[in-house]
Parts: sequence; C-alpha cells; structure tokens
Amino acid sequence: MGMERLDKILASQNFGSRKECALLIRRSGVTVNGAVVKKPEAKADPETDVLSVNGEEIRFQRHIYIMLNKPRGVLSASRDNRAPTVLDLLPDSMRRKGLFPAGRLDKDTEGLMIITDDGDFAHKMLAPKNHVYKIYHAKVDAPVTAQDIAAFESGVMLDDMVCLPAGLGVLEDGQHPLVWVKIREGKFHQVKRMFRARGKTVLALKRVQMGGLALDPSLGPGESRELTKEELKLILNFANLY
Ligand code: URA
Repeated sequence: MGMERLDKILASQNFGSRKECALLIRRSGVTVNGAVVKKPEAKADPETDVLSVNGEEIRFQRHIYIMLNKPRGVLSASRDNRAPTVLDLLPDSMRRKGLFPAGRLDKDTEGLMIITDDGDFAHKMLAPKNHVYKIYHAKVDAPVTAQDIAAFESGVMLDDMVCLPAGLGVLEDGQHPLVWVKIREGKFHQVKRMFRARGKTVLALKRVQMGGLALDPSLGPGESRELTKEELKLILNFANLY
C-alpha cells in the first residue's frame, strides 16, 4: 500500500467516512508512532507505522474476507435495484468499499460464500487451474447410480461444453437422495445442468465447502463472520475430505 493519507487509511479500516475520520484526526484522536498527528492529509504507511485511534493501536487489515451462509431467495450479485443481495446481509461493522462475492450461487442455492474486497484472492480461488474444489450437497429427484458417478468422473457433457472431472457420492439413499458433488469449475447453473444431463433434477442445493474451508455450522442462514488467517489459507490449500 505504501504511504497513504491518514484519513483514507482510517476510513478503509472502518473508523467512519473520510469526513468523520478527518474530524477524529483534527480532534487529536490519532497518533502515528506515538505522536499526535492533527492533519488528515498527513501520510503514513499503515503496514510499517504504528497507528492508534483514541489510545488503541489498530491492527491494519489490507483486505477483509467474510464467510456468509447465504440463504435462499437472496441474489449473490453485488447490487440489484429490485431484490436484496448478499451484501445487504452484512452487518455495518463489515461493510466497506469494493466488497463483492467471490463466486456466484443461484438465487435458490444456499450455503458458503466468501465476500471480500481482494480481487487477486478471488481470482486465484476461482481459476479452475488452481484446483480449488467446491463441494455441494444436493437433493435430487431420483436415485443416483454407479453410471452417474462414472459419468461425473469422466466429465459430463453439457450442450456447449464438457465438464472437468467431478466427484459424486451418496450421503443418504432414497427416492430423493442427498448427494455430495465436488467440482472445480463454476459455470452458470453447473451442478443443476450436470444432473439435468443425467436426466435428474436438483431439488435443493447447498454449497458446504470451498477448498479446505467448510461452512461454519454455527452460522445460520444469512449470518456471516470474518475469516481467520488460518481459514483463509485453507481455501487455497485444498485438503481432500472425501
Ligand atoms: N451449481 C448450480 O447449479 N447452482 C449454483 O448455485 C452453484 C452451482
């Protein structure tokens, strides 16, 4: 990041708007390396300078990474004028400029989403060549067969593409079995289309894992929390759990 204006640094760390942060600085609330700085336009390097606000040292975070349990009925787009989006679900303390969902889920799909303002991270996580698998639980309208599993493994053919090899397994048998699906692409409606190609319909879909990071079971639908550094690493270092 290098040297930045003090008011901009504080605003980026959720201490208020640029104006509010400027006021805070003018009112002697901010120190840089122990010295009070009263000019909002004064510059500091948030990664090497020690900044404090009202006597408390701030832990500078360049980016924010949020885990959200997306409920059904909410769009995963960044903004929509007609319907609520996943960004509307975040508490004020997590809002900041430039947030977007890293990857999409259909309106009627629920489960794990990562929301961040780090474009490089999102790109790494979503590029199929990086093999960050996404695991879904799906309820389908007919029993899953060994042929279905083999077809997923060798690459399901859709109208306009052949999917990369995918994992498929049964969690709960029955007429409407619950299955897990593991894919590393994220094409539009991919899981639903893969089952359609096998003559089946997905009745319910939930994403439960991205890379080695599983959805926190304590997060109810619509709830979110920041990821820890360790969890962030888990996304890119995939531990194969199945
Ligand atoms: N596949 C789908 O069909 N829908 C989703 O939301 C995610 C994966």
